[in-house]
Amino acid sequence: MPDRLVIAIDGPSGSGKSSTAKGVASALGLAYLDTGAMYRAVTCAYLDAGVAPDDESGVIAATTAAVLEISTDAANQWVRVNGADVTLRIREPAISANVSAVSTVTECRADLVSRQRAIIDAAGSGIVAEGRDITTVVAPDADVRLLLTADPEARMARRKAELGEKIDEVQLADQILRRDSDDSKLVNFTTAADGVTHLDSTFLNLEETIGAVLDLVRRTVG
Ligand code: DC
Repeated sequence: MPDRLVIAIDGPSGSGKSSTAKGVASALGLAYLDTGAMYRAVTCAYLDAGVAPDDESGVIAATTAAVLEISTDAANQWVRVNGADVTLRIREPAISANVSAVSTVTECRADLVSRQRAIIDAAGSGIVAEGRDITTVVAPDADVRLLLTADPEARMARRKAELGEKIDEVQLADQILRRDSDDSKLVNFTTAADGVTHLDSTFLNLEETIGAVLDLVRRTVG
């Protein structure tokens, strides 16, 4: 294994990339970055500032002004925006429903991408970073690059199992299908770019998925 290892994982909602990335980070003793949590945290910031989702310049201003702090410890995840802890709030359906107002705006993406690169650069022994554009935009030079997908039915079932009673079928379809279609306007996370390995986890459980990624890491970097 090299002294420093950067692993980039992309995939759509519910593909299992967060749980997989955390498991891989823990197994290899690496830091972990959930870039989706950053998009979600700035969503809290623009909503708190009273900015409407369709007010693009307001969303850009709230994003670039946001003071964002995020844990890179896979075992202890937290995120703060403008001094407020939003660790639990970023998972609420109201945030999922409004996050595309950030992720579909080029200026917001550019701001968050540069913050993400700084966090990755600062990770001493390396990091597992996951999102939608990590393999292609944020860290195209990562040592290991993976696109993790799963069929839409499997992804909806996983999100339902995660959120339980807190979500109905309409919200579920909005969170998975509508959001993927919005998010894929600026970023391609459904087909693997050159040099990116595609892993379909539809018929794999979490342990098997983590095992497959660890195998890929060993094959790639030894
Ligand atoms: O992975 P997630 O569901 O927590 O991501 C939240 C939103 O942020 C999602 O709608 C897509 C967007 N996102 C993105 O556009 N690029 C990333 N690197 C990570 C997330």
